[in-house]
Amino acid sequence: MTTISIIGSGNMATAIGTRAIRHGHTVEILSRDSAKAQALAERIGDGATVGTYGHAPAGDIVIVAVPYSNVVAAVKNYGEPLAGRILVDISNTFNADASSLATAPGSSATKEIAAVAPEGTQVVKALNTIFGHVLTRGTSLDAFLAGDNADAKERVAEFLTSMNLRPRDTGGLRMASVLESAGLLLMGLAQNGAGFDLALGAADVL
Ligand SMILES: NC(=O)c1ccc[n+]([C@@H]2O[C@H](COP(=O)([O-])OP(=O)(O)OC[C@H]3O[C@@H](n4cnc5c(N)ncnc54)[C@H](OP(=O)(O)O)[C@@H]3O)[C@@H](O)[C@H]2O)c1
Repeated sequence: MTTISIIGSGNMATAIGTRAIRHGHTVEILSRDSAKAQALAERIGDGATVGTYGHAPAGDIVIVAVPYSNVVAAVKNYGEPLAGRILVDISNTFNADASSLATAPGSSATKEIAAVAPEGTQVVKALNTIFGHVLTRGTSLDAFLAGDNADAKERVAEFLTSMNLRPRDTGGLRMASVLESAGLLLMGLAQNGAGFDLALGAADVL
């Protein structure tokens, strides 16, 4: 079992933190609002701690659970204390009415984060294709990921597997933009008949 740090104290921080604790991990909450971090740690329960925002995270894996509008600035401002960590970018980049992506063509939130993260940081895209409320249920689900560093992806895959998720490696960092499009696909499906009790998956056809 491992220590996971989460930047943010909103819906996804809650969903990932709760699921990680359930599977025996230690979870450190890092929030720019220490009262919110404390409240979330108490809500998650045993195995949840509060870290000092802006200081070195306790975990080697740091989940960045911040909206796309702020996530690049958040990583940039956090800066050097993140050096050497695996940053997991879970952000979706669709606009307010989920009609298109807010990123520039060919770019991705993950690529933008990688450009501002301290040297030695590895950025992995994961978990953006699962709704928080679905993640909380504990069901076994496909969890797509992308990134350039094989060791970092392996560590993230182990973490996902430990939480009863099926890691599905989609390739290098360039695939992050595809996963962000998949987030838009999930929203399109949810809003056009399938509903929000939904997750994307890849079927193994035997
Ligand atoms: N919700 C979902 O079902 C879902 C599913 C897949 C992926 N995602 C992605 O997960 C990420 C988080 O979503 P969410 O639903 O958890 O959002 P949320 O509930 O709005 O929580 C966002 C968190 O980010 C923090 N934050 C915002 N700006 C920040 C900054 N500049 N520096 C540091 N922290 C900052 C907020 O802190 P304050 O409370 O202090 O404002 C809050 O704790 C998003 O990128 C979203 O696209 C969400």
